[in-house]
Amino acid sequence: MPEAMPEAQCVQIYLNGMPRQVARGTSVAAALLLHAVPCRESVKGTPRAALCGMGICFECRAVINGVAHRRTCQINCLDEMRVETQR
Ligand code: FES
Repeated sequence: MPEAMPEAQCVQIYLNGMPRQVARGTSVAAALLLHAVPCRESVKGTPRAALCGMGICFECRAVINGVAHRRTCQINCLDEMRVETQR
C-alpha cells in the first residue's frame, strides 16, 4: 500500500490479527495477495490463494469476521474487517 494514499481512500482490516491498510474497493482476495497471506491451507497444510477470481473455484475461502468458507474474491474489504487464514 502506498504511503501517500489519503486516509479517506483506505480501509483498515486485520489479516491474521495484523492491522493492514488497503485501498477502498479492494477485494479481500487482493488484500491477502498484496500482503502475502494465504486464504486457507489445504488438508496437507499447503498455503492456497485465489485462483479464478470470479467466484467459481472456491480456492479463495477464508474466515471473515468469524464466518468460515467466505469466498474472498467476491467480498470487498470493509473497515475493521477481520480476515483469518482458514485452517
Ligand atoms: S478465486 Fe475462485 S472462487 Fe474466489
